[in-house]
Amino acid sequence: MSHQTVIVLDFGGQYNQLIARRVRECGVYCEVKPYTTPLEDLKAMNPIGIIFTGGPNSVYLETSPHVDGNIFTWGVPILGICYGCQHLAYSLGGQVTPAQDDSAREYGKTPTYYDTKCRLFQGLPQTGVSWMSHGDYMARVPEGFALTAHSDACPNVAIADEARGFYGVQFHPEVNHTENGIQMIRNFLYEVCGAVGDWTMEDYKKTAVRTIREKVRDGKVLLALSGGVDSSVAAALLAEAVGSQLTCVFVDHGLMRKNEGDEVQTAFAKWDLNFVRVDAEQRFLSKLAGVSEPERKRKIIGEEFIRVFEEEAKKIGRVDYLVQGTIYPDVIESGVGEAAVIKSHHNVGGLPDCVDFKEIIEPLRLLFKDEVRQLGRELDLPEYLVMRQPFPGPGLAIRIIGDITKEKADLLRDADAVFREEIASAGLQYSINQYFAVLTDTRSVGVMGDGRTYDYTLALRGVTTTDFMTADWARIPYEVLDKVSVRIVNEVKGINRIVYDITSKPPATIEWE
Ligand code: XMP
Repeated sequence: MSHQTVIVLDFGGQYNQLIARRVRECGVYCEVKPYTTPLEDLKAMNPIGIIFTGGPNSVYLETSPHVDGNIFTWGVPILGICYGCQHLAYSLGGQVTPAQDDSAREYGKTPTYYDTKCRLFQGLPQTGVSWMSHGDYMARVPEGFALTAHSDACPNVAIADEARGFYGVQFHPEVNHTENGIQMIRNFLYEVCGAVGDWTMEDYKKTAVRTIREKVRDGKVLLALSGGVDSSVAAALLAEAVGSQLTCVFVDHGLMRKNEGDEVQTAFAKWDLNFVRVDAEQRFLSKLAGVSEPERKRKIIGEEFIRVFEEEAKKIGRVDYLVQGTIYPDVIESGVGEAAVIKSHHNVGGLPDCVDFKEIIEPLRLLFKDEVRQLGRELDLPEYLVMRQPFPGPGLAIRIIGDITKEKADLLRDADAVFREEIASAGLQYSINQYFAVLTDTRSVGVMGDGRTYDYTLALRGVTTTDFMTADWARIPYEVLDKVSVRIVNEVKGINRIVYDITSKPPATIEWE
């Protein structure tokens, strides 16, 4: 693909993905590479600029991450952020020490004063708040560098050697707390590196369609479609590229949200592909009958899913390529530590063992979620599919506490639909990252009309989060909650009490099971 590239050199900081996303938002393609990547490999990528990320270490310690010093004579512009800034200074002869007193150790929002003659801060206000998080201090900056920003406590918040195109900032321009931070990144890309902004999803679509065609030729392609954003966009891209050579298998396990199966099917009607919708509700419900332990539910659904998929794949016969909807955050994160298994996630992406095929195609492997959504729009997928919130593979099975029956699933579907409708009509559908209803196994006494009821308690859950690893409960306005509550108890027979979940993650998880 012919587009300019920026390398985000990863020193282990917590905002590294965010830096990469910001660069892409500025219309410039970038890839995150570990700091250990050999210089020849970086050179082979022919980047127009490099960004050194932050990191948790102190640059003067021998054990801290360091890059090959030849990177500084290569002639490619560098922006160092936080640890990256200190690394730049240290490597070029500056001195970095632990901050002696608390005032030089800066954390959080800090008023900062910029020299707007510096290309990094060109066109920006001279003062603004920046987000700091550093305990080290640049006691002496390297020769050739000017001080281009300061705070009340620190004279060298930013440094620049304009001639060589080297810039360093102690703060984090990539986070929203830094005013005009994105503009600074944009300045680095466009004013310093000479970016032209050639990274668009329109181009990506054209190039991806062409490369997929060249690769697949007359081969057969198989894709497990879940109805989620990633698998839907991957399916649409493949459909656009190879049409009838593609078979999408959509296993409807009967635990989808209201109308979801039909919506997904409708969205793909315009392409000439083989769309196999397997109605497996009965099959899944009978396997799940009487099971209430969350991990068992997950295992049963995961295994049954693979079995159904396998049977369908056999009917198709020979398959050359299997498509997976892996996206870039999965690629960056894979191989990073072994986290404890809190829940065994079931994902329809991971099916390679059960089908014979030549190769896996991962057409979204280099895209962030917002880019995947944009690509979906380029492919004319409907907005409800493109903006769909995450939905777990095991579906409503893990939102029905206790044993699962069709009646309970229907009840939950109706209640969840009301909740979603009201959130949308309050205009909150994009500010709350995930929201859904949970059918508890608690029943309680109520009164309706003149009669006693003994019905289920429904829990509503809404969270705000950026990565779904941690989440805060969403402050949904009382009026909206009130409307949802009134509507559900009136419209959904079998529910007489509504509660709202006000726990964050951790200690709770987003889903209840
Ligand atoms: P938890 O409940 O672990 O959820 O805080 C974090 C995010 O993951 C989603 N989730 C799943 N996604 N297969 C999936 O594809 C699964 O088995 C699964 N379980 C949870 C959950 O909806 C939330 O967005």
